[in-house]
Amino acid sequence: MGKLHVFDHPLIQHKLSILRDEETSVKEFRELVGEIAMLMCFEATRDLPLEEVEVKTPVAMAKVKRLAGKKLAVVPILRAGLGMVDGMLKMIPAAKVGHIGLYRDPTTLEPVEYYCKMPPDISERDVIVVDPMLATGGSAIAAIGFMKKYGCKHIKLMCIISAPEGVKAVQEAHPDVDIYTAALDSHLNEHCYIVPGLGDAGDRIFGTK
Ligand code: PRP
Ligand code: URA
Repeated sequence: MGKLHVFDHPLIQHKLSILRDEETSVKEFRELVGEIAMLMCFEATRDLPLEEVEVKTPVAMAKVKRLAGKKLAVVPILRAGLGMVDGMLKMIPAAKVGHIGLYRDPTTLEPVEYYCKMPPDISERDVIVVDPMLATGGSAIAAIGFMKKYGCKHIKLMCIISAPEGVKAVQEAHPDVDIYTAALDSHLNEHCYIVPGLGDAGDRIFGTK
């Protein structure tokens, strides 16, 4: 079973409190999504392998540790996942970015794919799928399924707010995938929105409502 990591760091929780507030402007919302993604990335990459190398400081030779060259890819689920990419790339600038376009059909609530573009060596990369919201889990399950079809073997899912229903669904569909989230909320409402959540993440990032 994939592990659920809930980040309770005070900085993340503080930023999340502003993010949830319906009075928060589009500009501030967008900035906060990027900042939270950056802080979450810091935690979610804690297990990256290191290798020892030597560098010459102005004083002496030093044995130091560097990332062992593991290739990473960040894969945002469009649209809202885009808001997390810049924050992630600030922490891991060498990562490549793949895009998956999915939207929830408003009637069936099933994810529909409309775009997919991956780096050519995606199967060799460790993948972090990013989306601010994990509601029913339909979008994340479909996106992770696509990544597996591309041959990816090490996949993590990072969502800012998750519903218990979505966590359970992802863990059942993809037991090999760890989930990283800043908050595990109460439940989904009758429209499959997360309660209390923050509303429609895509609309709040891009100002479309
Ligand atoms: C939102 C969100 C997730 C999805 C979560 O996207 O960003 O991708 O819903 O819901 P689920 O867990 O039930 O699949 P939406 O479909 O509203 O598209 P958007 O990002 O283009 O606004
Ligand atoms: N998508 C969102 O943007 N918000 C929710 O609460 C659920 C799905």
